[in-house]
Amino acid sequence: MKPTKATITFDNGATPIELPILTGTLGNDVIDIRTLGKHGIYTYDPGFMATASCSSAITYIDGEQGILLHRGYPIEQLAENCDFLEVSHLLLHGELPNAEQKMDFTSRINGHTMLHDQLTNIFRGFRRDAHPMAVMIGVVGSMSAFYFDSMDVYNPEHRMISAYRLLAKMPTIAAWSYKYNLGQPFMYPKNKFNYAENFMHMMFATPCEDYVPNQILAKAFERILILHADHEQNASTSTVRLVGSSGANPFASVSAGIASLWGPAHGGANEATLTMLEEIGDVSRIDEFIKRAKDKSDSFRLMGFGHRVYRNMDPRAAIMRKTCYEVLAELGLQDDPMFKLAMALEKIALEDEYFVSRKLYPNVDFYSGIVMRAMGIPNSMFTAIFALARTAGWIAQWSEMNSDPEHKIGRPRQLYTGEAKRDFVPINLRD
Ligand code: ACO
Repeated sequence: MKPTKATITFDNGATPIELPILTGTLGNDVIDIRTLGKHGIYTYDPGFMATASCSSAITYIDGEQGILLHRGYPIEQLAENCDFLEVSHLLLHGELPNAEQKMDFTSRINGHTMLHDQLTNIFRGFRRDAHPMAVMIGVVGSMSAFYFDSMDVYNPEHRMISAYRLLAKMPTIAAWSYKYNLGQPFMYPKNKFNYAENFMHMMFATPCEDYVPNQILAKAFERILILHADHEQNASTSTVRLVGSSGANPFASVSAGIASLWGPAHGGANEATLTMLEEIGDVSRIDEFIKRAKDKSDSFRLMGFGHRVYRNMDPRAAIMRKTCYEVLAELGLQDDPMFKLAMALEKIALEDEYFVSRKLYPNVDFYSGIVMRAMGIPNSMFTAIFALARTAGWIAQWSEMNSDPEHKIGRPRQLYTGEAKRDFVPINLRD
């Protein structure tokens, strides 16, 4: 029988404290420690290794088994059968849309893809060589200065308008960050394309030529978007929730999420993986880099390997690995030296005792970087595309938080390790 209560006892004879244990639909039970503060007791958990920061009905991960469910549906089934907007609808509204709902949702998103024209001035304020993530953080943050008509976070209708705006405009913002780098004209969204095709059009088309998206690549891109759409309380999603918990507007909250995603330990890993492969350069140098990854005095880590939650193959990585082979075959790139190097690295790491004993498997970013590179997407855009996909999860989680009656401003405690109280010393008497 599962326990329903936990008791904290103290070795100084203080009265024990009884705490309820909460049970979700799936996964680990959690001890509800919210009342501990009333007893002057706090818990210590840097990095949230064992802390559930919220309750959520959106995504479930079983890291030991390698399972990922969105609203109960396995990621494998969603990636195989859905398009990205259906998955976004599922995350945001709780159910896959029926045919009529899908048409309505798609047309609402299509109806919001253009940016306020003055936003082009914000792009033009950046250096030409600015990283697309830096541009995205700035432009998304500045949306709060353009779309303030519907920013009352306590109004469900306003929340939905802002959520739709973010989902609809993010491909335009990501693609324009790239176009600005290139010095090419911004391409306006075209409603005849689906979400994935439209992004590819805004990335790759120019006004001089008609653009016809390659269907295999568009499908692969759609899959990348679906696989990155949400992943429960990861660093960037927790950032969006924490920023939003103070009542901050959705554009500011999502801009903070993009900033968090940029780090190489999180979404920046796809770009870092390719940079690492370029640095390794040749199969003959893999051993040297594996040795460095194991050396605790060296800060180098094998990028694209390991995950905080998965201690088994990341199910998204398994799907992306398959897509990787499909895309490279379509493009005739099976013999591409970078791909061969990546596959050799994957094989060696999967057999190496250090990685096996720590359950460090290749993660989704290891393969998505290779796919995007093969599609002609530059390394600097990899994390921007992750941000574009994760926007679906961020707005769903932000919206869930704001409609949760239990939600409070996020305000962790700390274990203070600084100086105890001391008196001011005038400057002429200081050592
Ligand atoms: N290369 C070498 N060693 C590693 C790696 C790696 N990529 N990842 C973890 N380890 C080792 C650690 O040194 C540690 O070893 P120890 O037990 O001997 O001290 C052990 O494996 C456990 O690692 P932690 O750092 O404690 O695991 P944590 O859960 O904190 O970190 C993380 C997870 C950040 C993803 C880490 O594996 C990493 O840095 N990987 C590379 C970056 C990456 O690919 N990030 C993408 C994550 S997926 C995503 O965001 C979609």
